[in-house]
Amino acid sequence: MNAIVRQLTGLRDWVDDRFPLMQLWNDHMARYYAPKNFNFWYYFGVLSLVAFVIQIVTGIWLVMNYKPDADFAFASVEYIMRDVDWGWLIRYMHSTGASAFFIVIYLHMFRALLYGSFKKPRELLWILGMLLYLSLMAEAFMGYLLPWGQMSFWGAQVIISLFGAIPVIGDALSTMIRGDFVVSDITLNRFFSLHVIALPFAIAGLVVLHIIALHEVGSNNPDGVEIKKLKGPDGHPLDGIPFHPYYTVKDSVGVVVFLMLFSMVVFFAPEMGGYFLEANNFIPADPMKTPLHIAPVWYFTPFYSILRANTINFLWLDAKLWGVVFMGLGVMILFLLPWLDRSPVKSIRYRGKLYKTALAIFVVAFLILGYLGVQPPTPARTMVAQACTVIYFLFFLLMPIYTKLDKTSPVPDRVTM
Ligand code: HEM
Repeated sequence: MNAIVRQLTGLRDWVDDRFPLMQLWNDHMARYYAPKNFNFWYYFGVLSLVAFVIQIVTGIWLVMNYKPDADFAFASVEYIMRDVDWGWLIRYMHSTGASAFFIVIYLHMFRALLYGSFKKPRELLWILGMLLYLSLMAEAFMGYLLPWGQMSFWGAQVIISLFGAIPVIGDALSTMIRGDFVVSDITLNRFFSLHVIALPFAIAGLVVLHIIALHEVGSNNPDGVEIKKLKGPDGHPLDGIPFHPYYTVKDSVGVVVFLMLFSMVVFFAPEMGGYFLEANNFIPADPMKTPLHIAPVWYFTPFYSILRANTINFLWLDAKLWGVVFMGLGVMILFLLPWLDRSPVKSIRYRGKLYKTALAIFVVAFLILGYLGVQPPTPARTMVAQACTVIYFLFFLLMPIYTKLDKTSPVPDRVTM
């Protein structure tokens, strides 16, 4: 045993003389001091990493048998499901993984709203997170075309043709994205290339930048107290504990619980009642037959609802274009959060009633928009979607006012446990 340890230590030292291995380990793990009061909400960063790894690993194995060809794509997915050893498991892990990724990402983002994690000095960290969110949306959208089912085809057809609403350049732009006048084999090939190469690389790079930015400024925490301000005689934050071993051990509990829940879905409800895999996608793509009801997967539906809520032609622009504009703004406005929030405190614990109420109403409106996005529109549903769209935007546009007027309570010097 001792001999093995000695050999491994020797190997580590050999590498360390040629590469800053221990320095990286210490800077980011063993001597990275994280606040000691992390709670439930702080699991979702590491869970996002776990979800990303699941997608990459299962994706590599799917590509071994998948055929990016309009004539064979659907059949190759069926082949993976029925004939490839454990193919069904790999495919269901990947499809469930996409939804799981968005669940943890939405909770991860919500944590930032709870504890003001986007506020100074974490603005760049937030922007990098938003770029990750945009890349994930693109990654998921392109991945959904690959099984070449009815929803893959018509979902892509509807979303890409939205670009056609842009004046002057719209038609040319949507043709450029498709590479053809309709969604076709050419579209499938380019989406495949972007889905398996370009976007995963971009996401991996952004994750590295995200973590570097986080470790530069240090983690926020449920009290919103900057722990770096109060250091002990050893130079380490009084309210900080080394990430390793304390949080590696704590996070592993979260990872195990996540994997248990994830397995339950993969093994017992991989379609999740049509929310994770839609029924129409078990029918091969047919350009001659439009499904009665086309809806994107649940993680896009809040923004899809905003798109559909615009029913009025206004000025010289038609309703469809306004829909596209508001849908785009709905995502982009999140980038501005660090500058819209004028509160002197970060954490919801010390904010006043105004922010708490605004956040609660916002969450309800966002969930309703998400629900309405999967339902076929009716006049009543459209009206509710319009009201929720107004609430969605007011949450951001009025933020500089209500966060300034809010009656906050004093923030303690030290974190509370
Ligand atoms: C692939 C996607 C992502 C991965 C792997 C990831 C990973 C992480 C990790 C490991 C942490 C530290 C642990 C934690 O605080 O939970 C973190 C913190 C953070 N992330 Fe992400 N993240 C991702 C996406 C996002 C997105 C989409 C946003 C927001 C738009 C975001 C915003 C933040 C913020 C503000 C923090 C600091 C939180 C704090 O200190 O309170 N991240 N991220």
